[in-house]
Amino acid sequence: MPDAYILGIESSCDETAAAVVRSGEQIISNVVASQIATHQPFGGVVPELASREHLRAIVPVVKQALLEANQTYESVDAIAVTQGPGLAGALLVGISYAKALSYALEKPLLAVNHLEGHIHAVLLEERQKGNQEVNFPVLALVVSGGHTHLYLAAQRNAGWTYENIGHTRDDAAGEAFDKVAKLLGLGYPGGPIIDRLAPHGDPKAVKFPPAQIKHRDRRTRGADDDRNHNRGKSEAAIERERFDFSFSGIKTAVLRYVEVHEMHPIIENLRQAMSNILRPKLEDYLAYSDRKTLDLVASFQRAIVDDLVGKTLAAASAHHVATLFVTGGVAANSELRSTFGLASAKQGLPVYFPSRPLSTDNAAMIAAAAYPKFLARDFAPMDFSAEAGLVLR
Ligand code: KG4
Ligand code: ZN
Repeated sequence: MPDAYILGIESSCDETAAAVVRSGEQIISNVVASQIATHQPFGGVVPELASREHLRAIVPVVKQALLEANQTYESVDAIAVTQGPGLAGALLVGISYAKALSYALEKPLLAVNHLEGHIHAVLLEERQKGNQEVNFPVLALVVSGGHTHLYLAAQRNAGWTYENIGHTRDDAAGEAFDKVAKLLGLGYPGGPIIDRLAPHGDPKAVKFPPAQIKHRDRRTRGADDDRNHNRGKSEAAIERERFDFSFSGIKTAVLRYVEVHEMHPIIENLRQAMSNILRPKLEDYLAYSDRKTLDLVASFQRAIVDDLVGKTLAAASAHHVATLFVTGGVAANSELRSTFGLASAKQGLPVYFPSRPLSTDNAAMIAAAAYPKFLARDFAPMDFSAEAGLVLR
């Protein structure tokens, strides 16, 4: 099989991205235009502004990706684009442009699930490092601003299949980071700044109730259904246990802590000061934060990390997996990386993360996930559309 150069396009949220990846294993170029500055004044992503920004950025970003890869529109072998999940209006910009390119250039079009992209970010980088050996079954935790999902991933022929064995019942972990940061006057996006501030606080200072979903709720069916359905089945078959998450409680607990400890004046002061600085640095945040805020930030991050690591490792051992992937924007978090590293080593389980630039949204992961589809000639029809709630299976 000769090398295939796939142009990937990603526009599901607030990053316009394009990349060229060779045969699913080598990043030739990877361009990401972030819209953070546009959304920052609103403290979160504004969907309509996101679509407009994608429209503005998509042509130059794709051009830049081709230029940096020393490729042309004509030389690439296929166009891959994110179909969903994500913001519908944002997805449509990438999809329309990818369709136009595919039609005009007469190149195959590949539709990729964004979550599959995050999983393939790990594989892409491992292959790039020369590690062709990934042992199955693989458990992948996809943890980002929009998602907190656990997937059992398997390779079938050329393609991949995924079984969801857990997801968040309410907020995604990244969403909790963003909402808590907003609440504390730290600005948007919250994850990166909480990550940098947390080492300056005491993670044991504030106790949060563990975000525990009751065992009975973890199953997909109700108790009566279970009893009828399970008659005559082995213990293992009955226990298709679910490992669901819940992060809205901790956000409310932070809010309550702020109110009880009358932290509003210091938070308002911090918010004001940061809004007057163009790109606040860590020292700026530290200069305007008091001990209580830093302790709260550190304790919040510890609670989220412990919950993600605890449930993921419990799922890994219940499903006897051989390898763990942790990917998505929150996988950039330092404490999450180190805690996963230590805890999975204890369990004798290899854990792989993407590098930080490949943890957050990018198009290299989309081009990489498209490669098995390209080999299988699993091309997208010209009438396919964006699917905001696209499920991965
Ligand atoms: O994967 P991503 O770029 O977009 C989605 O698909 O959602 O993830 C963005 C999310 C945001 O919620 C952001 O706050 C979070 O990832 N994030 C982090 C870190 N870097 C980004 N969360 C914790 N620690 C970080 N270092
Ligand atoms: Zn993402």
